[in-house]
Formats: sequence, structure tokens, C-alpha cells
Amino acid sequence: MEVEAVRKCRICKSKRLYKFLDLNKMPIPNGFLPKESLKVPEKKYELACFYCENCGLVQLTTVVNPEIMFKNYVYIPSTAKVMMNNFSNLVYTVHQEMRFNKDSLVIDIGSNDGSLLTFFKSFETRVLGIDPALNLATVARMNGIPTEAVLFNRKTASSILKKHGKADVITATNVIAHIDDLHQVFQGVSTLLKKNGMFITEFPYLLDLVAKNQFDTIYHEHLSYFSLKPWKFLLEKFGFEIVKAQRLLIHGGSIRLTHKRKKKRSTSFKKTIDYLINLEKRNGLYDKTTYDIFAKNVDSLKKELTTMLKELKKKKMKIVGYGAAAKGNVLTNFFNIGTSVLDYIVDSTPFKQGLYTPGKKIPVYPENRILKDMPDYVLILAWNFADEIIEKQQKYRKKGGKFIIPIPEIKIV
Ligand code: TMP
Ligand code: ZN
Repeated sequence: MEVEAVRKCRICKSKRLYKFLDLNKMPIPNGFLPKESLKVPEKKYELACFYCENCGLVQLTTVVNPEIMFKNYVYIPSTAKVMMNNFSNLVYTVHQEMRFNKDSLVIDIGSNDGSLLTFFKSFETRVLGIDPALNLATVARMNGIPTEAVLFNRKTASSILKKHGKADVITATNVIAHIDDLHQVFQGVSTLLKKNGMFITEFPYLLDLVAKNQFDTIYHEHLSYFSLKPWKFLLEKFGFEIVKAQRLLIHGGSIRLTHKRKKKRSTSFKKTIDYLINLEKRNGLYDKTTYDIFAKNVDSLKKELTTMLKELKKKKMKIVGYGAAAKGNVLTNFFNIGTSVLDYIVDSTPFKQGLYTPGKKIPVYPENRILKDMPDYVLILAWNFADEIIEKQQKYRKKGGKFIIPIPEIKIV
């Protein structure tokens, strides 16, 4: 099936699902197009959210078949310094707590081009990547990272166990939200993890998403938007507990959680988790009206940004986009910003250059084009990397170029 409607919550199975924020139908946000496909009509899928009134999980109303989204994947984290620093920090933290040796095994779910595992490998431990994207698995293997090109589930976990044995550490950064069957994730992790092993996840944190108006991180690939209350409910079902939680600045606000199998005596870490869940409650994450307000704020932002861009175009200003991020494709599609506003978008990812964005069909070029063309304004669509981008484009700025950062609120630099 190409697309399926969600009928019950993927964590608690409740049918009490409250719909909010309808972003209209749009193509999958990483479905970049080559020139020869521009005339072929694109497939569009509903993009809207449910809030589970039972456990509090925010999730999409539909699931697009993962084969369509992930078989050939264009997103790689390794072009961003921020991401590499984050990986290095993660690996260092893990190493502090669990001194591994050459017999230890680290498995990364959603291993992409193997960049996280490369950091683990520098400790001379064994590593294994799991990622369904055939193009990326090839890149990873070429970089010396053994990779199984499969989707992670109960079945593939068992076959990996037979082939490679149990893992000391399992990581899953920015991938859990991609997976429909979360129960299978924990079953798979449970199968593969040693008794005292660590399971580390990182995902954008719903608390930040709501507080900072980050509506454009909502897209077909991200099936769930996690906060701690429903997450805790899920992992406890499978006998795990959180032993560490760190809020991160990455992707506009993420959370890194370290899990272990639950011991008889609860850890002292419970206090931090209770504190965070209370904070989530105080910020209205478990009150459905919060999500209606969130949707209204998105509409206000749409009005404000599109009015501003229209004014600039009236004044004959040249505007281009920076970062052909999936989130940028959500923003341009929902706000109806096309090539009459943005001449093109620049991006550091070689896989995206030369292609056109899904929906709005804006051409994507390498980053150096900015300095050559000197547009009047650059709209930073990859706002999560705004600092890194501005830093990189100091020359453009010194020559009088200006940046527009749309989120959390419009800012001109
Ligand atoms: P993401 O928000 O989904 O991580 O995507 C960010 C996009 O921004 C990705 O396509 C790479 C691009 N990018 C640049 O073009 N230049 C940069 O300096 C950085 C950090 C990212
Ligand atoms: Zn639920």
C-alpha cells in the first residue's frame, strides 16, 4: 500500500485522536526532481496531525510507505559541522560510561552514510550500520562501515543477531520518528542488546517544536513527535528505563535519551524525568487547545512572511533560499512560495544539487552561487543551521547581503 490512514495511536493504541494543523496535501519533502521529471505530475499525500488524548503522543494522520521515502535517500548529516560535533559529543559521552574494546559492538539504526559510526570506530570497536537506503549503504561501506541495507524491525533484528551477535551499544539518532511500528523497535532492540547494554536515541523534542513554532519539521517522514510522557509509557512496556536525558540545541531543540534494561531498584535519575514531564505539562503539551493555538500561530507566520516577501519583490529585490532542507520544502509548499519569489535555493548536499524541490520546483545549486550572484536577501530555510550558514557566508554579508530567518519568528540579519 502506498499510503495508510492512522486509526489508532502508535504507542497506546487508543482511538481518541484529535486532529490539528492541516498542512494540505503535498509531495514527500525529500522527493527532489531531476529536470526530465518536471512535467510528470507529482504524487501528493495528506500532511496533518493527531494528538492522542490518551497518552499525549503527537503523530501524523497518515503513513506513506517507507519504501517510497527511504530507498533512495538524499539527506546526509555529514555536510553540517553542528551534526558532526554532536556525533562526536555523543560518542565521547558513551565512551566515558562504557569503556569499549575491540570486541564490543556498536549498532546504529538509521546509520545513513555511516558518519556516527565513524566516530565510534576511532575507538577500534566493532560497528554495524542498519539503513534501508541503498545509495547510502554503498557510501558507508566504501568508508569502511559495514552496513545492512534493511529496514529495522523484529525480523531483521533476529537475522542481524545471528550474523553479528549482541550489541553493547545501540544508537538511533533522528530515525525513531520515521518508524511506524514502535513496538517492533523496542522488541528489536531488546533482541539485539546485551544485558547491560545501552540504547541511545535522539529526536527533535516536542516541547521545543511547539514553543518555537517549528511547524515545518512536521512532514511525511516524521510519523511521531515525541515528548517524555508517552515515550516513557512505551519503553516501560518493554522493560527499559531512562538513565540519562540531555536536551540538545540540534535541529532547533532535541533530546538525547539513554536507556538500559530496568533494574529492580529504580535509578536516581527518576527525578529529572519527573521534572521534564512536569515541564511538558506546564507548557500545555497534554492539553489539546495548545495544538489549536499552535496551528493559529502557523497561519499568522504564513501571513507575515508571505506579505514581507511580496513587499520585497515589489521593490525588485532578488531573493534566494539557503538549505534545500525537507523542512524548507514544507514551508515553501504550505506558504506557497515558488520561483516567482525565490530564484533558486543553494545547498551543500551533492545529492540535491542540480535537482528541483518537490512541489514548488525550485532549482537547487551549490552554495558558492550566492557570492557570485549577490542576491539582496537570502531566506534561510535550514534555520536550524542559521549560525553555521551565516558564519560560512561572512563574505556575502560583508558585501551587504542580508539573511531572513523565518523561525521561531521572522528575523533579518
Ligand atoms: P536538515 O534541516 O533536514 O538537517 O537539512 C539541512 C539542509 O541544509 C541540508 O540539505 C544541508 C543544508 N546545509 C547547507 O546547505 N549549508 C550548510 O552550511 C549547512 C549546515 C546545511
Ligand atoms: Zn496514545
